[in-house]
Amino acid sequence: MQTQTNSSVAILDDSRSVDPRTSAILLRCDSLRKTFRSGTQEITPIDGLDFSIERGETVSIVGPSGTGKSTLLHMLAALDTPTSGTVYFGGNSLQSFSEAELAEYRNRAVGLVWQRHHLLPDFTAAENVAMPLLVRGVGLGQALRTAGEWLAEVGLASRTEQRAGELSGGEQQRVAIARALVNGPALLLADEPTGDLDERSAENIFELMQRLHGSHHLTSILATHNLSLARRTDRVLILEHGKLAPIGNTLAGSAAPSVASAGPTKTPGRV
Ligand SMILES: Nc1ncnc2c1ncn2[C@@H]1O[C@H](COP(=O)(O)OP(=O)(O)OP(=O)(O)O)[C@@H](O)[C@H]1O
Ligand SMILES: [Mg+2]
Repeated sequence: MQTQTNSSVAILDDSRSVDPRTSAILLRCDSLRKTFRSGTQEITPIDGLDFSIERGETVSIVGPSGTGKSTLLHMLAALDTPTSGTVYFGGNSLQSFSEAELAEYRNRAVGLVWQRHHLLPDFTAAENVAMPLLVRGVGLGQALRTAGEWLAEVGLASRTEQRAGELSGGEQQRVAIARALVNGPALLLADEPTGDLDERSAENIFELMQRLHGSHHLTSILATHNLSLARRTDRVLILEHGKLAPIGNTLAGSAAPSVASAGPTKTPGRV
């Protein structure tokens, strides 16, 4: 697998070459807060979060609908700005980045997978995967070759020329994963990536993400309502009332998670 590494931007974290067993922190949030205002109404889904994610971890974020999981991921991806507080990536504050550095961060440092794939339906699978490469100036031929390699890696070698709109939901999500990773990001953010899939397809997509997480030395954060998948990640955090709390890996099957019923934390005292 060829990973493009010709960037000169210093913000890019090179955690892929770092032993993930080191305890270095890839991502940290300090007093993170997000308030939305509409008219006279105000809502603060994220209300003072302090947490860190180590390189190589898979962390899932669970919590009732509307608690702010997507809002949090948007801020980690620099798609939205906090009302106050700071997100640090590789020790650098995202708030200190210039517009050009933020664009580079979104394109190169972070891979995003959403519940709905957001593929361009009239373009082929390979063209969709090649898009982030084209955005950063890779030539079309090289971009399509690299896209083809990634499609092979996600099990779609025979579908590169298929229009994205003609693929099944599970196949579309595979394309979206390839597109998220084609620029070799250090951080994979997935927002309910299996939410639109049947149980078997959800399992396949989760297993694919876990495999790629290991083989590409990623750090992965997964927001999900699927507790059986969440408990297979290294660490489960619950987002409720604007705060994150560790919930451990002992979620009780179908029961709604709550801090009060949380089992032992894998890393006590750390969020
Ligand atoms: N751009 C916005 N403007 C106003 N309110 C917003 C905006 N984005 C999100 N919200 C509100 O913030 C709260 C958190 O929304 P968010 O989408 O982050 O929740 P969620 O945990 O991802 O929910 P779900 O599990 O259903 O995906 C909700 O009350 C939502 O209405
Ligand atoms: Mg959401």
